[in-house]
Formats: sequence, structure tokens, C-alpha cells
Amino acid sequence: MTNSYPRKVSIFEVGARDGLQNEKPVTTQDKMTLIEDLAAAGIKRIEAASFVSPKWVPQMADSGDVLAGITRKTGITYSALTPNLKGLELALDAGADEVAIFGAASESFSQKNINCSIAESIDRFIPVMELAKARNIPVRGYVSCVLGCPYEGEIAVSEVARVSELLYKMGCYEISLGDTIGVGTPANARRMVEAVAEVVPIEKLALHFHDTYGQALANILACLETGVSVIDSSVAGLGGCPYAKGASGNLATEDLVYMLHGLGIETGIDLNKLVNAGNKISQALGRQSGSKVARAISE
Ligand code: HMG
Ligand code: MG
Repeated sequence: MTNSYPRKVSIFEVGARDGLQNEKPVTTQDKMTLIEDLAAAGIKRIEAASFVSPKWVPQMADSGDVLAGITRKTGITYSALTPNLKGLELALDAGADEVAIFGAASESFSQKNINCSIAESIDRFIPVMELAKARNIPVRGYVSCVLGCPYEGEIAVSEVARVSELLYKMGCYEISLGDTIGVGTPANARRMVEAVAEVVPIEKLALHFHDTYGQALANILACLETGVSVIDSSVAGLGGCPYAKGASGNLATEDLVYMLHGLGIETGIDLNKLVNAGNKISQALGRQSGSKVARAISE
């Protein structure tokens, strides 16, 4: 059988941020252990922190201690979310290797998530981009609600493409397309990626699919044929989104790695070590892993 899947996929692990921001609080040490375990499993890109208002997301309030406390491995990028200049300054002080700004393709979600309109968010990101550039810190750009919004329902693909292009033209090195509430299905996910790829090169796109409706793995498989080769996922399927009611975690990294390896696609990740990392943090949370593969392997 011939297919057009990439030979290698780069996994961007978001469990320590997107996951833990919406779980019950764990200790700073638990977070540091998770990040170090992920690195030991071969993950090269780890979103480790989020410098947002602690009033909005208390689970991320110790982000500075986490970044300062981890034992770093060479060749690994430890990144952080930074919604504004204050966030970037805190991230730089804590030694983040890269940062991410996050916008949305939905006006209502933008208001609920970052308390401003899409246009205001772009204005707010300009000084973040300038300072990051001056410090040589790469900036990733997220676009939320690319396949639907918890407040507005359907979102026009043209709006997703417009916001993605704006962030890319501002200097984001990669645009991560977020199905924040996991409502997409394979054909519309693929159509959306193809539309964005008309304005942002496909090699600059990443998929960030939450698994609320159990569609994330199928959606990723459909999108892999477009040539996209960066995928965000969350170990043990940790998390959700505090401003998207009902959203469950991103696709579990273990399930993604299992599928990719089954397709003969390289990830550089040791699945057994990854499962152990996910089981350890699940234990700290007092809950079962959200990864089916982890549950099957651990039985
Ligand atoms: P605001 O209230 O409009 O901001 O919030 P403000 O500038 O008026 O500041 C209000 C207070 O927050 C002040 O403190 C500031 O100092 C403080 P006070 O004087 O009241 O004591 N503040 C900060 N503190 C720490 N770090 C900062 C910071 N900025 C201001 N960076 C703001 C605007 C953006 C700050 C707020 O709305 C916020 O923190 N939102 C974060 C929401 C969030 O973290 N959402 C989850 C992440 S996004 C996501 O999960 C989606 C994604 O995964 C992709 C997908 O799935 O679609 C990325
Ligand atoms: Mg997310």
C-alpha cells in the first residue's frame, strides 16, 4: 500500500501545560518529575509552563519554579505560554527556550479566554514578538477553535486561515491549529488544514486536537496525508481547557505514538518510558490514565 504519510513526525508534548492547567493541582515536584520523565522518554519539545494570570489559571501559578527547578537535557526545548508582555518577561526570567502566543478564530472564545477581541489580541502580541525577537526566542502561535467554538458553534475556515496567516506574518515560526473542544471529524479537519496551507506553508503547521468526541486520532490520520508533520499531544490524555466547558484533554501521546509507530513513522520516542511517565502523573492525580494504550500496556 502506498501512502503520503511523512517519514517522521515531531511530537510537541503539552501535558505539563495544557493538561495540568485543567486538572486538580499537583505539586511543583510532580510537574518537574513529569517533565524530566518526558525528556527521558525521548520527547524533544515540551511545553512546560504558562505565564498567565494566576487568578485565571491557578494551576499554572508555579510555572517559574517549575522552569527554574527542572534538570534540563540538552537538545530539548522547554517552552511556555505567554499571552502578553508581562508573561514573556516572566518566561524569560525563568529561562524558557521558546514561548507561545495564543489567539483564536472565534471572537467569543478570544473574549472568554484572554479577555480581548481577536484584533486587540494581535495588537497585544506585537510587543511580545518584538521583545522575543530581540532576545532570540522563537515564538509559536496557537489558533483556537479551528473546528468549532463552544460559544459560536461553527467557525468559518476563512477566519481560521486569516488568523493563522496574521500570526505567521507576525513572525511565529509555527502555527498550531487547535480543535479546542474536539468537535472536528476527519474530512472537515483535512479541509481546514488544506485551506490554512494555502496561506501558511504546510511545514509550518502543527495539529493540536483535543479528544472530547474521540475523533482526534482519526482526524490526525486524515490530516497526515496533507504533509503536516508536527502534532501536539498530552501524555495520559491530561487536561482540557478552563474556558471551553466540557473540553477533554488533547489526544493522549501514548495513543498517538502507538499509531505512528504502527504506520512505520519515526518519532524518536520510547513508548514504554512514555507510558511510565503518564502512569506516574496519573497516580499523582489519583486517576486512571486517559490513554488506552497506556492502560493496555500496563495491565
Ligand atoms: P486581563 O484581566 O484582561 O489583564 O487578563 P490585565 O492586563 O488587565 O491584568 C489583570 C491582572 O492580571 C493584573 O493583576 C496583572 O498584573 C495580571 P492585578 O493588578 O489584578 O493583581 N496579569 C498577569 N499575571 C501574571 N502573568 C501574566 C499577567 N498578565 C496580567 N502574563 C490575561 C488578560 C491574558 C492576563 C488573562 O485573560 C489570562 O491570564 N488568560 C489566560 C487564559 C488561559 O491561560 N487559558 C488557557 C490557555 S489557552 C489554551 O489552553 C488553548 C490552547 O491549548 C490551544 C487550543 O486548545 O485551542 C493553547
Ligand atoms: Mg489546547
